[in-house]
Amino acid sequence: MKIVKTIQNMRQLSKKAKIHNKSIGLVPTMGCLHDGHLSLIHRARKDCDVVVVSIFVNPMQFAQGEDLEKYPRDFNADRKLAESAGADVVFYPDAKHICQKDSSTFISVENMGKIWEGKTRPDHFRGVCTIVGKLFNVVNPDVAYFGQKDAQQAEIIERMVKDLDFNVKIVVVPTVREKDGLAMSSRNKYLSSKERKAALVLYRSLQEARAMIKNGEKKSDKVLDCMRSFVKKERLSRLDYVGIVNSEDFSAVSEISKTSLIIIACRIGKTRLIDNFLLV
Ligand code: PAF
Repeated sequence: MKIVKTIQNMRQLSKKAKIHNKSIGLVPTMGCLHDGHLSLIHRARKDCDVVVVSIFVNPMQFAQGEDLEKYPRDFNADRKLAESAGADVVFYPDAKHICQKDSSTFISVENMGKIWEGKTRPDHFRGVCTIVGKLFNVVNPDVAYFGQKDAQQAEIIERMVKDLDFNVKIVVVPTVREKDGLAMSSRNKYLSSKERKAALVLYRSLQEARAMIKNGEKKSDKVLDCMRSFVKKERLSRLDYVGIVNSEDFSAVSEISKTSLIIIACRIGKTRLIDNFLLV
């Protein structure tokens, strides 16, 4: 497996692959790889000739006071994990090369980028889209892989790809969960053992909602009320939002249908976690 640190070398490698008619799969990450990321790499390995995993903790998607400084970083562990999952290349650019200080061009997806996650974290998706757009330009992948856990991010990136004619196919891979249901996330590392138990409230409230819907409930309000009171019972949790949305544009729906997505964001102690459940 190759480690590539500069934009120039990454471009060269990509160009070479294209000359030999090889397809490139890109798995963009911020490192701290877990089984969720590995499932994306496995999928890319199945689909593509060359698998590139990018590791870059993107300062543009963190607001002041968020966890940029303490975001977990362990390049050596990540390198080994990426290789064992089948990556051919780890693209590990330096922040000063990829985010120039005088840069003043950003990619911002309107509407969908401003609601739910985008409301709580105003410039977050602008930071995500800008870096993902840059990675697409540098790596030139045929396919890029994102996790369903960050459902709104994946949908926003699909929107960006359509709107700006990026020549890349987006594949969304199902959420990987711990045995007890907690969605895998790099931020789970922040949880104390008490908080780890409390964090199950996200998955369990989604399960409650799912059971109600399975039993015939079609009114979003009823399901959301039930989720809110379920989360309230967990002392260590503070709900940010719950919503039932159209999975394509994230607009809230009042009647639940097969294309609805249930979304939740919750603070457990100081750690903010998100999860979702697709009804199809
Ligand atoms: O999902 C993530 O880890 C990040 O938002 C991404 C897509 C790598 C962009 O920095």
